[in-house]
Amino acid sequence: MQVVTVGGFKGGTGKTTIAALLGVAAVMDGLRVAYLDLDRNTRNLSSFVTLRRASRLLSPDHVMLMDMEEDVRTDARPRHTGRLEPLVRMARMDGYDLLIIDTSSGNLSDVYEAHLLAGVILTPMNESPADMHGLFAPLGSPAAPRINYREMIDTVRFDRRRAGLSEQRWHVVMNRVSALPSKIGNTINDRVAVLAREAGFEAVWRLRDRVIHRALALEGRSVFDAPSEGKLSMSELSGRSEVRALLALIDRAPVMHMARAA
Ligand SMILES: Nc1ncnc2c1ncn2[C@@H]1O[C@H](COP(=O)(O)OP(=O)(O)OP(=O)(O)O)[C@@H](O)[C@H]1O
Ligand SMILES: [Mg+2]
Repeated sequence: MQVVTVGGFKGGTGKTTIAALLGVAAVMDGLRVAYLDLDRNTRNLSSFVTLRRASRLLSPDHVMLMDMEEDVRTDARPRHTGRLEPLVRMARMDGYDLLIIDTSSGNLSDVYEAHLLAGVILTPMNESPADMHGLFAPLGSPAAPRINYREMIDTVRFDRRRAGLSEQRWHVVMNRVSALPSKIGNTINDRVAVLAREAGFEAVWRLRDRVIHRALALEGRSVFDAPSEGKLSMSELSGRSEVRALLALIDRAPVMHMARAA
């Protein structure tokens, strides 16, 4: 079973959208998929599943951790509570092929553990300097956020190495990319290429900004469902192939890439 964690301490980058689309693409391909929703505040992924079930649309199974043990500390080394590990083990025993964990934008212990247990980490970012700084600014730089995602990833890598676990893949997903090339888009791409070498991630995949993806939260419909207009639009077709490309990437055997973390 592959565990994919969608994370990043920057709100609104597309974590839930990507988790949702990926899960639907995978069930449509006949995989057994479970979602784990760690965003106890908005519960967006859970609502997505509820909407799909109400409309009798094929959906991944779904788990949500209800009991709260909120970790409000703001340092980058969360306590390891071990709450998720039994869930992951059970999903594996139940024969799931894929477990997709959607996280919230905070440095909670559960979110740290979701990263620790992942074979693949997906971090969406938009083509914006705010996302770039919010996710990848190095520690100590003036742009570094107080709760530093990059530092948490380093901690996760250190902890996995110490525990003798295999290396993970970390992909940064460029999301909401505009169809029109722009100067700021090119600048961000160049900077992200440098950051990728420094921080040890692979910026591999792009998802266009598509109005259709915004409807996910309305009725739980995705580009993979029968189109309401009767015929698939070009945008829906392209949207499907973008998501399938990501799924293909996840299917790849784990362990390809490792940070040159100190
Ligand atoms: N590729 C896309 N095309 C169009 N709209 C998108 C795309 N990706 C995300 N959005 C929209 O951007 C907004 C934020 O997306 P989403 O809720 O998935 O982000 P998030 O990272 O899960 O946010 P949060 O940090 O609040 O959990 C939503 O309105 C969503 O519909
Ligand atoms: Mg979300």
